[in-house]
Amino acid sequence: GLKIATIGGGSSYTPELIEGFINRYEELPVKEIYLVDIEEGKEKLDIVGNLAKRMVKKAGLDIDIHLTLDRREAIKDADFVTTQFRVGQLDARIRDEKIPLRYGSIGQETTGAGGFAKAQRTIPVILDICKDIEELSPNAWLINFTNPSGIVTEAVVKHSNVKVAGLCNVPIGMVNDSADMLGVTPDRVYIDFVGINHLLWGRKIYLDGKDITDNFIEEVAAGKSSTMKNIPDLDWDPDFIRSLGMFPCSYLRYYYLTDEMLKEEQESAKLEGTRGEVVKKIEHELFDLYKKPDLDIKPPQLAERGGAHYSDAACSLINSIYNDKKDIQIVNVKNNGAISDLPDNVVIEANSIVGFKDIKPINIGSIPTRIKGLIQVVKAYEELTIEAAVTGDYDTALQALSVHPLIPSVTVAKKILNDIIKENKEYLPQY
Ligand code: NAD
Ligand code: G6P
Ligand code: MN
Ligand code: MN
Repeated sequence: GLKIATIGGGSSYTPELIEGFINRYEELPVKEIYLVDIEEGKEKLDIVGNLAKRMVKKAGLDIDIHLTLDRREAIKDADFVTTQFRVGQLDARIRDEKIPLRYGSIGQETTGAGGFAKAQRTIPVILDICKDIEELSPNAWLINFTNPSGIVTEAVVKHSNVKVAGLCNVPIGMVNDSADMLGVTPDRVYIDFVGINHLLWGRKIYLDGKDITDNFIEEVAAGKSSTMKNIPDLDWDPDFIRSLGMFPCSYLRYYYLTDEMLKEEQESAKLEGTRGEVVKKIEHELFDLYKKPDLDIKPPQLAERGGAHYSDAACSLINSIYNDKKDIQIVNVKNNGAISDLPDNVVIEANSIVGFKDIKPINIGSIPTRIKGLIQVVKAYEELTIEAAVTGDYDTALQALSVHPLIPSVTVAKKILNDIIKENKEYLPQY
């Protein structure tokens, strides 16, 4: 049977991952699951780990769940390592959201300066995990969800020899939402995506293989699409959507509707706190549920989290790798020429053929002019962000933030950077 190591096992999303393995057991014979956390996460690990054990028992399956703080024991001889950790816990996320807002810039977990800060904390840890994998399970696949997922995955591609795929629930969310709009099941819908993580567009959409893009765009322009749970549902400008001729992912609201989104963030920060503060409450309620000894399934309340369904994507990806399915999944993967307007060694989010040996993005070609500049500039920011995280070089960090389209000026970039470094001291050994 297979051995899985899950780093950040105390996550409230873990029951979804366990459910995914239970549902696929026939095809994907998982024998050992090691849930790994650190001292600060021990209590969460115990609560969610015990729920995982009850779930497996209820399903009547022979899967051993191990709870451990020993990462190396978990990684040794693992077939798959999945990563869902949050360096600095939710308090660090709340600081990431508040620092940019202080200076009139978008305060978000992954998009803008907040994502930069999260990347600086996370990249040293993921590269350390990769060293363990290189030594203890060199043939293992690393399936990363740790945000900013595209950036963290690219750091692994550029700075390790580990086989890696990055995941996000946004693309599957778009497929599911489109299927809902069309009143069909998701398996009948295919979206031709272009972009990078949290900066993604649907270029074309097919129903049962038939191109229905023109009609679909009208529906999106009429406000029929929905956003992820963590993103305010501001309506798109219908003329803009029609002239764009593509449908943007929820996160593109931060770029296309920046002033309205900033206003919304500032107001809700006053009323109910930032998203991180709201999540703290949701998480508390979830763990109160998880503690109940008679609970032995994934509770529906987990759907209040923006990341719902992401573990399903992970299990489905692991299944395709293990069974060498060569089917199409939407993955963060090395570009290798798929998008001709980006460097070969950067990571893109693309429909990809998934097999045991490798994951190959399907060719996209050249990016339409109306979205090309934005993708290229955000990718440049991402490349500089990785370089800064690896070197701890202040000047590179300043260039990264100054390039980002959501940071209004170098003056603001500098203030934000200084606050990030000051407020994250214990998590930034490289600076
Ligand atoms: P969380 O705050 O519950 O963190 C999960 C666990 O990670 C915690 O128990 C924490 O103690 C642990 N942890 C922190 N540092 C660690 C380390 N060095 N080694 C091992 N464990 C460590 O977080 P969450 O809300 O469950 O999210 C987890 C991660 O997944 C975050 O990075 C989040 O951004 C990401 N996420 C990604 C997607 C996606 O679409 N890619 C969706 C949802 C969440
Ligand atoms: C999903 C994104 C994730 C993000 C999460 C936040 O939309 O794809 O990358 O981390 O939502 O959800 P939360 O409930 O933590 O705000
Ligand atoms: Mn995501
Ligand atoms: Mn709407």
